Amino acid sequence: MSEPTEITEAAVEAAVAAALAAIDAAADSAALKVVRSEHTAEGSPLARLNASLRNVPNDQKAAAGKLVGQARGRVNQAFAAKEEQIQAAEDAARLAAEAVDVTALPTRWTPGARHPLSLLQERIADVFVGMGWELAEGPELESEWYNFDALNFDEDHPARAMQDTFFVEPTNAHMVMRTHTSPVQLRALLGNELPVYRIAPGRVFRTDEFDATHLPVFHQTEGIAVDKGLTMAHLRGTLDHFVKTLFGDDAKVRLRPNYFPFTEPSAELDLWHPTFKGGARWIEWGGCGMVNPNVLRSAGIDPDVYSGFAFGMGVERALMFRNDVKDMRDMAEGDVRFSQQFGMVV
Ligand code: PHE
Repeated sequence: MSEPTEITEAAVEAAVAAALAAIDAAADSAALKVVRSEHTAEGSPLARLNASLRNVPNDQKAAAGKLVGQARGRVNQAFAAKEEQIQAAEDAARLAAEAVDVTALPTRWTPGARHPLSLLQERIADVFVGMGWELAEGPELESEWYNFDALNFDEDHPARAMQDTFFVEPTNAHMVMRTHTSPVQLRALLGNELPVYRIAPGRVFRTDEFDATHLPVFHQTEGIAVDKGLTMAHLRGTLDHFVKTLFGDDAKVRLRPNYFPFTEPSAELDLWHPTFKGGARWIEWGGCGMVNPNVLRSAGIDPDVYSGFAFGMGVERALMFRNDVKDMRDMAEGDVRFSQQFGMVV
């Protein structure tokens, strides 16, 4: 216990001044804690002055008590004010330091990209959806019946040959990886009420080389329309609108006689590509024709009442001549930098 201190105005003022100066100088809560122990806690000059009150003669006790009480009051008030100020500053600093920007993009993964083949397939389908057509699809692992028989392919048609088609074991199950999207023609007809206007983007498979212009897995978009009174003129008009939407008003189609078992008559579908990189030119793009009556019969449709047209074209090929891609393998290798060049719209 320290010596009693004599309570004088000067001693009280000195203690108060020292305490206020220390409070003023404290910069953070740690410093303020030291101020508390040195200037207000037990053992501090002010606490000792307070303790000395009991030694003051009774007739002076009230005055001395008032003097010390007011001094402690001033110091406690200044201390409380400073404490509040430091607390607020420290809270604000912590909030700033711990702030999380919930809108920030994670940087651990670089963003991917949509594949241009997907974008182009959607673009093509959109043109037909804009004409009121509906989307259709079929399985990639397809029955030989849908892929060939129902499409009027002969038993010994060369396209069925082992060197073109991936047959899937066991071979007596007669399943193939579909070689074109045309089996969707049948599926669209069998599953729906007439008339049918369907567009079917899809992946197809052939035992082709993997080189700059061939992929064993590639994409086609198939169209099928069956209604009363459809003619070759409807086919031409539809394709014409389609290519103008995708390649500009100067684009047009040319149909050259050809043979497909599932269309009659059949035609090679050529596109006049007005903005082709090396100059405007004709490009072979796909096949088309009037749906063969035998195909309509396979779907249980009377060819004397209904007629239809169908077409199919390659999507990789379109990406090559439309977006100037030189090597098809770039489309299959999955390097995101290839896809990123195309952005979100092709
Ligand atoms: N399926 C044919 C092919 O892959 C294209 C085609 C579709 C032809 C529709 C006529 C009608 O070559």
